Amino acid sequence: MTAAYVARNVVTSDELIVRLMLVGYRAFVRPVLFTSANGDPEEIHQRTLGMMGNLPESLLDRIPLVMGERCNPVRVAGIDFPGRVGVAAGLDKDGVAARAWGAVGFAFAELGTVTARAQPGNRQPRLFRLPHSHAIINRMGFNNAGVEALAARLDQWGVRRGNETLGYPVGVSIGKTRVTPLAEAVDDYLFSLRTIAPYADYIAINVSSPNTAGLRSLQKREALGSLTGALVETTRELDPDRPIPVFVKVAPDLSEGELDAIIEVCETTGISGFVAANTTIGRQFLHPSELHLSTQAGGLSGAPLTRKALRTVTEIAKRTDLPIMGTGGIMSPADAQAFFDAGAVLVQLYTGFIYSGPALIRGINTLTHPDRARA
Ligand SMILES: Cc1cc2nc3c(=O)[nH]c(=O)nc-3n(C[C@H](O)[C@H](O)[C@H](O)COP(=O)(O)O)c2cc1C
Repeated sequence: MTAAYVARNVVTSDELIVRLMLVGYRAFVRPVLFTSANGDPEEIHQRTLGMMGNLPESLLDRIPLVMGERCNPVRVAGIDFPGRVGVAAGLDKDGVAARAWGAVGFAFAELGTVTARAQPGNRQPRLFRLPHSHAIINRMGFNNAGVEALAARLDQWGVRRGNETLGYPVGVSIGKTRVTPLAEAVDDYLFSLRTIAPYADYIAINVSSPNTAGLRSLQKREALGSLTGALVETTRELDPDRPIPVFVKVAPDLSEGELDAIIEVCETTGISGFVAANTTIGRQFLHPSELHLSTQAGGLSGAPLTRKALRTVTEIAKRTDLPIMGTGGIMSPADAQAFFDAGAVLVQLYTGFIYSGPALIRGINTLTHPDRARA
C-alpha cells in the first residue's frame, strides 16, 4: 500500500461522521420533509421553522453534541464570529427559528429580508424545488412581518447588539417595501435601519433580489451612492463610537464594469463589506428533466449558481480588501473551500442546507484551511 493510496483512502472520523449524517438526512429526513404538507415546499419550510423555534432550551443545549461545534473563529468588521458558516438571508426572514441556529452549528444568521412595512409577498405558488438540478427557483417577493415585528421578537428574547444572547452574531437584511416608490427608497431603508439597529450586529442591504420590481437598479452608481451614504451616516449618528457595520448584498449577474462602480461607491461611502451573491436571473446548468421550470419567473439558487457566485466573489476580492461573505450554490464543504480560496472570509447557506441538512454545516466547520488564500 503506497503512501498516496493511504492519503487518498483514509477517512478521518470527522469526514465519516459528515458522510453518515448526509446519508441519514438524504435517506430518512429529506424524503419526509419533501413529501409532507402535500409536498408544498413553502408550507414545509414554515412548519419546520416553527418546530425549530419551539424546541425547548434543554434540547437546544444538547444538539451541539450531535451536530458538532463551530470552528475557525474570526473577527470581521469588529464582530467576533464563532465559526465561518452562517444562515443566508431569506431562510428565516422573521427570525422564527433564531434560537436554534447556533445549536445546529451555524456561527451567525442573516435574518430578513425585512421591510419597513409588513407585506404578503407575491402570489403562491412562488417557491419551486428542482431536485435533479439541486436547485430552487423563488419569487417570494419579501413576504415578511415587517421590521418592527422582528425587532419586537429579538427584544423579547433580550437580544441586543453585541450581547450574544442567541450564541452568535445576528445580521439583519433590509429591503425596500414593495409599495414604496424607488424615489423614496432611502427613507424606507432608513426606517428599517433605525428600528433594527439596537438588535443587530450587522446590517445587510438587499439591493439585489430579482423579485421586487426595480430593486436591482439601486445597485447603479448614483442610487447606490445615495442609499449607502445615507445609511452609513445614520449608523454614525446612532453610535458615533462604534457604528453598526453595513454590508451590501450584490447580484451574481453584474458585469465587471458594474462591479467596479459598486465597489468604488461602497469604499467611498464607508460600507464594511459585501455579501456575494443573491439568486441569479440566469437559467444555465439545469437538469434536462427540469428545463420546463426554467420559464418560472424568479431567482435561481443552488448548484447551477455556484460558478457565477464564485466568479462574483473572485472579482470583488480582486478589487477590494473589504471582507466578503460568500453565498450561492455552496452545496458541499469543497464548494465552501473554493469560496474561501476565492477570498470569502465567511460563507452563508440556503439551498445547500435544504438539500444536505446539518451535515453540510458540520463539513464546513471541520475544514482545516479556510484562510489559506490569505496566508
Ligand atoms: C426561497 C428563497 C428566499 C430568499 N430570500 C432572500 C431574502 O429575503 N433576502 C436575500 O438577501 N436573499 C434571499 N435569498 C437568497 C439567498 O440568501 C442566497 O443569496 C441565494 O439563495 C444563494 O445561495 P444558495 O445557493 O445557498 O441558496 C433567498 C433564497 C431563496 C432560495
